[in-house]
Amino acid sequence: MSRTSIKFPQGFKWGTATASYQIEGAIAEDGRGDSIWDTFCRKPFKIGDKSSGEIACDHYHRFQDDFKILKSLNCNSYRFSIAWPRVFPKGTGTVNQKGLDFYSRMVDELLKLGIEPFVTLYHWDLPQKEQEKSGWYKRDTARHFADYTESVLKSLGDRVSNWITLNEPIVSYALGHVVGLHAPGHHRPYKAMKVPHNLLMAHGWAVERIRALSPKSQVGITNALIPAYPASNKDSKGFEYAQDFLVRLFLDPVLKGHYPKTLEKSIFAAGKEIEPGDMSIISQPLDFIGVNYYSRMIVKNFFLPPYFFPVKPSYPGVKFTTMNNEVFPQGFYDLLTLIRNEYNNPVVYITENGSSFEDKLENNKVTDIDRLDYLKKHLTSLAKVIDEGAKIKGYFLWSLLDNFEWSFGYTKRFGAVYVDYPTQRRVIKDSGLWYSEVCKNNEFSATEGLDNA
Ligand code: GCO
Repeated sequence: MSRTSIKFPQGFKWGTATASYQIEGAIAEDGRGDSIWDTFCRKPFKIGDKSSGEIACDHYHRFQDDFKILKSLNCNSYRFSIAWPRVFPKGTGTVNQKGLDFYSRMVDELLKLGIEPFVTLYHWDLPQKEQEKSGWYKRDTARHFADYTESVLKSLGDRVSNWITLNEPIVSYALGHVVGLHAPGHHRPYKAMKVPHNLLMAHGWAVERIRALSPKSQVGITNALIPAYPASNKDSKGFEYAQDFLVRLFLDPVLKGHYPKTLEKSIFAAGKEIEPGDMSIISQPLDFIGVNYYSRMIVKNFFLPPYFFPVKPSYPGVKFTTMNNEVFPQGFYDLLTLIRNEYNNPVVYITENGSSFEDKLENNKVTDIDRLDYLKKHLTSLAKVIDEGAKIKGYFLWSLLDNFEWSFGYTKRFGAVYVDYPTQRRVIKDSGLWYSEVCKNNEFSATEGLDNA
């Protein structure tokens, strides 16, 4: 078999990504207030294995060791999130200096190791007190988010220059407020229509504060994007709705200044809080777009909102992760091509991409062939789209560590590094070792003929 080299542009950023609630633990330490995830986890039947982020990876106490591992993976960048309730335990009011100090120590440690921080300001851990004051149903929460952003900027803005306002607003909206599988656990499809706009106002106002306090910073927003494919040629209507919902809902307002046509009515009908001038706050220029890609969705027409429903792919050789995600690297290529074509080729960071599989720790090793294969195929798609001209500047593997996978608890493992939870021992998986070589060499050798690449 002949060997091909898959190369990435000079200066490409290689990293891993994490989120505060999924790894930190220490939920009641140094003045942290409750987040909606603490409350949600305490309710019965919400988390599959009845766990919570109470201890998680104990990263709060172990971040120095974890960053040594990150360094040994040869990553030059790292994406992590700040827990709003560590900074403002009650959402607003008095800042908790100890909370800010924790992140300040983290940033110093990263910089000492030569690792560039990418900071997400909101990865779903809304202070419980904000929820009690009506959460994302009201734009006050967006204003409070901007104030919180300002405090973080004043503390870290001298050392951090890459900021991500929100992580995956579609998940906060749909899983948190429509379906109820995520905190705050609401099943309120009608009322929830206010949520996307308020989240986007939070984004817009936060961008304004970041620009004012740190004009040299690079600012973006991270979206979970799931490209849709019609199940048959009769399903073009469902396909159009799905693509608007799963890809354009949060990209169009930010990059084009309006909601997608098929959703405009529902959002505006319910969104009585949309005020003149909002769309220009939401669509002010950004430096990059963060893209999280895991898989695609095949859809059929449906007569009720959201006017599509997913069908499970079935074809010879189809492969799924333990999250039931189809392994579909072609979707990564298609999605990034769509972004390039429809949005005027913006600068993009892949802020998440990864897979969960059954991992076994045996003889101090985790031989995770499936994850390695997923990673290799997705990086091959990525290299192809970059070669064709897409402005993609970096890749953050989800995740550095196995961690708390929301309503699935600890039953899904996504890490480059295995976490043995009872002992908190970390073991770099084979995929992590392979990834460390890619990060070091900025290229990898692949045998020709990889599917979908
Ligand atoms: C998300 C989040 C992460 C998840 C990851 C794996 O996409 O849901 O950003 O917090 O853990 O995506 O599902």
